[in-house]
Amino acid sequence: MSAYPITDHTFDVVVVGAGGSGLRATLEAARHGLTVANITKVFPTRSHTVAAQGGISAALGNMEPDDWRWHMYDTVKGSDWLGDQDAIEYLCRHAPEAVYELEHFGVPFSRTEQGKIYQRAFGGMTKNFGADPIQRTCAAADRTGHAILHSLYGQSLRYDAVFFIEYIALDLIMEDGRCRGVMAWCLEDGSIHRFRAQRVVLATGGYGRAYFTCTGAHTQTGDGNGMVLRAGLPLQDMEFVQFHPTGIYGAGMLITEGVRGEGGYLTNASGERFMERYAPHAKDLASRDVVSRAMTIEIREGRGCGPDKEYIHLHLSHLDPKIIHERLPGIAESARIFAGVDVTKQPIPVLPTVHYNMGGIPTNYHGEALTLKDGNPDAVVPGLMAVGEAACVSVHGANRLGSNSLTDLVVFGRAAGLKCAADVKPRDRQPELPKDAGDAALARLDRFRNAKGKTPTAALRLRMQKVMQSNCPVFRTGDVLKEGEILIREAWKGMSDIGVTDRSMIWNSDLVETLEFDNLIAQAVVTMDGAANRKESRGAHAREDFPNRDDANWMKHTLAWFDGATAKVRLDYRPVHTYTLSNDVEYIAPKARVY
Ligand code: FUM
Repeated sequence: MSAYPITDHTFDVVVVGAGGSGLRATLEAARHGLTVANITKVFPTRSHTVAAQGGISAALGNMEPDDWRWHMYDTVKGSDWLGDQDAIEYLCRHAPEAVYELEHFGVPFSRTEQGKIYQRAFGGMTKNFGADPIQRTCAAADRTGHAILHSLYGQSLRYDAVFFIEYIALDLIMEDGRCRGVMAWCLEDGSIHRFRAQRVVLATGGYGRAYFTCTGAHTQTGDGNGMVLRAGLPLQDMEFVQFHPTGIYGAGMLITEGVRGEGGYLTNASGERFMERYAPHAKDLASRDVVSRAMTIEIREGRGCGPDKEYIHLHLSHLDPKIIHERLPGIAESARIFAGVDVTKQPIPVLPTVHYNMGGIPTNYHGEALTLKDGNPDAVVPGLMAVGEAACVSVHGANRLGSNSLTDLVVFGRAAGLKCAADVKPRDRQPELPKDAGDAALARLDRFRNAKGKTPTAALRLRMQKVMQSNCPVFRTGDVLKEGEILIREAWKGMSDIGVTDRSMIWNSDLVETLEFDNLIAQAVVTMDGAANRKESRGAHAREDFPNRDDANWMKHTLAWFDGATAKVRLDYRPVHTYTLSNDVEYIAPKARVY
């Protein structure tokens, strides 16, 4: 490996990823005096959080009375009883203070007439334990993620965090089951870096790009999840992939659920508001799994819109143009650019589109990574933590409620930073790394860099994406999933003939995409196997051959280990935490904080 000179770094904490959760963890750890490195493959304000539109949920009660317990009830129910209730309590209790903190950080939230933070209705958010919809989603027009990301980056720069920007994290450095650091490649000058740390926090986002159409950025390749699988650790609940009901037909761009929150509605080819049949009470604001399934049925049964009956119409032309201008300017622009539609006059053609991964790295509500060890389903992996979409806390269980993701990012990003501060002594001496630390990561980099096969990475990626799109879709059957298990492994086998044409180390996007594909394909395989294995319907996992939820046999988290040499997957389970924090003596209720 002498071809790759290494620059060594030592920090108390290394955070990989600079989206909402990574920045929030970085900020919290740094403001407690820890030395923090943040490694990110894109400039922080280009992280995918920037694309979040509709808002961040918190029971502020600005529009009408609200209660964090109603929020908790909705989240447990929305998760289809697969969410861990201790973590859900932590999320919902801390959400209001997290939003006020963002306000104090400078997030320009939209305002009510009284000057309070404006809140809109979102699917599955109710009052009085399910009685009626409530306005709980705090919004900065339809660019809430953009506003949050910029404010968090600005705040992070106030502290002593060091940002390693446009560095690709390659692999974890593990020693006897403990995470000791991470290897990274600097795209700008081609140099290789070895980071030693007391804690590595993975905040690397989801892996939507395993699918052909998704609302996520091209960078959304679940790199942390890939690293975890290569470290011989499990991922959790990967079969639960969320389809957002309203991606623009043909383009995949997100049209926020906030449109329906402001009064927009869906129709089929005959102009029928079909959601009234599927969810008579919540209608267009039913949870995402319900709306996506209803749209798919309408299209499948020949009631889709357009010449090929392939999409559904989303209407907002009846809304006051002032509301569109003030609260939904971003989607009006997206609809114009990507669908050629003037939303004040025409409906937007939309289709359920992959949007979010409920599964990821299993963690507790402190952000510590977990594994199954010696019969303990909650065994902490020393040194390793995860937050945000990369993690499976699991507050979203089988289905995430819209606007609970931004809350998850900031609440658990902060929790992880606090845990680092509680457990790590600033600038404490760290043992030397093993002599071969990072060799495996460099061997992998070198193998792909010099790969001389005949199949371009882009061709393999397309094959994987098409298989995931058709064999692991909204509705699943045993036969289709079984075929998917074979087809996705054929795509995986294609890696033995992969060809990378650019051998340079500086901004080699061919090599970057190949490393990302290697991460994606492992996640695609465990997703397919998890879906084939789970013989029930729950949340986003809808099996036509097992249409009912089966709590007796399946109210449990799937754990999946991946063997990178054979593509074999080992599955096991963790029990769902059906207990709350209020009964947990270790939990100390949050005190009122002054910012
Ligand atoms: O529809 C949306 O604005 C998406 C929000 C979310 O996924 O939380």
